[in-house]
Amino acid sequence: MTKEEEAILRGEKGPIKAKALEVVVKVGDVLKADRLVEIETAHIAGVSYFTIGEAGVEFLEELAKSGAKVSTFTTANPIGTDLGRDWGLPEDFVKGQMRIINALRRMGVNAWLSCTPYEALRLKPRTYHAWSESNAVAFINAVYDAYTEKYPGPFTIFAAITGRAPRAGLLTFEGRIPTIIVKLERDFPIDDPLKAGVLGKAIAEEVGHERPYVSVRLIGSSALKSFLASYATYSPHAFMIIESITPNHEAYRRAMDRHDVITINPCEKLRDLPRRSDVDAVLLGCPHYGIEELGHIVRYFKSRNWPHARIPILISTSPYAAWALRDYIGRLRECNVHLLVGTCFVVSPIIRRLNPRKVAVESLKAAFYLKRLHEVEPVFCSGLECIEIAL
Ligand code: F3S
Repeated sequence: MTKEEEAILRGEKGPIKAKALEVVVKVGDVLKADRLVEIETAHIAGVSYFTIGEAGVEFLEELAKSGAKVSTFTTANPIGTDLGRDWGLPEDFVKGQMRIINALRRMGVNAWLSCTPYEALRLKPRTYHAWSESNAVAFINAVYDAYTEKYPGPFTIFAAITGRAPRAGLLTFEGRIPTIIVKLERDFPIDDPLKAGVLGKAIAEEVGHERPYVSVRLIGSSALKSFLASYATYSPHAFMIIESITPNHEAYRRAMDRHDVITINPCEKLRDLPRRSDVDAVLLGCPHYGIEELGHIVRYFKSRNWPHARIPILISTSPYAAWALRDYIGRLRECNVHLLVGTCFVVSPIIRRLNPRKVAVESLKAAFYLKRLHEVEPVFCSGLECIEIAL
């Protein structure tokens, strides 16, 4: 440890920071870290009242009350309520959710309430971070070559308070060297988010704990986001290197010595997915739709003279993207298209209020959690096809 870290541990920067650093050091011991590193950003997941409940609120309030402050740029994941609209959710849920946001704010966390903060940040390669949202972890590792593990939410808070993480595993170049090469049986470009998601899941299931070096042509940010979110849902570490996308991918490829090469054909898995059938709602935005994806929706409705969808289309998005598209939110709502601002519909009781039996999704991550947490049956659609189902 540096002299500064030793001083923190002795309590010279306050008891909270000392306690937080103790946790980080203990985790570092378990991971066999050689030292601590300074992190440039932290991103905290697990901030919905739906998932952490009263115990989680009390933990965060306790921290905030004791004067804990983050010492690095820190953002937070989406929550269970919608910042843009009152869905008539139970009062105790809304209050609990607000207490969480207030506690985070008091600690200096930026309430971005987005699971795609990487769309508004440019992280430098080979810099250290502590993030805990799996899709975002996969994205910054693969697209920015920014170093983070998939940390549990509470640990990320301690890392943010201390501004440190243990240098081990994915926070070292050696720990990031891929151990297996993954190719497609036939080389073709993938620009469709559903196909990309199916491929991400297939790779995670094939490689398990191995770290894949993936040779695949992904076109456009929607396909890339879906691919990585789906992979991260089924992968234990949410880490991969993508040829021609990951900065320094050549260095990683050169560093690989003995390794297997596997080929994957995701087409069969795509055929097996339940597709169009009677659904009660369309759920999009897992991960959060950004300005680009929302722009496609707006252009689609505008070009057809704002038709009314027969079933609701719910789209999770960040406050930042919603603000950019603010002139269209009301118009879309008249078309039965509802932006859920700062919300993750997977960890929100909004779904239970709507009480759908079957929903159309394009995200394999959404399908995975909707089934488990809400017992809603997902069928799959892709891009504008999802909108057409609703119309
Ligand atoms: Fe984001 Fe929630 Fe999906 S956090 S990735 S919208 S499960």
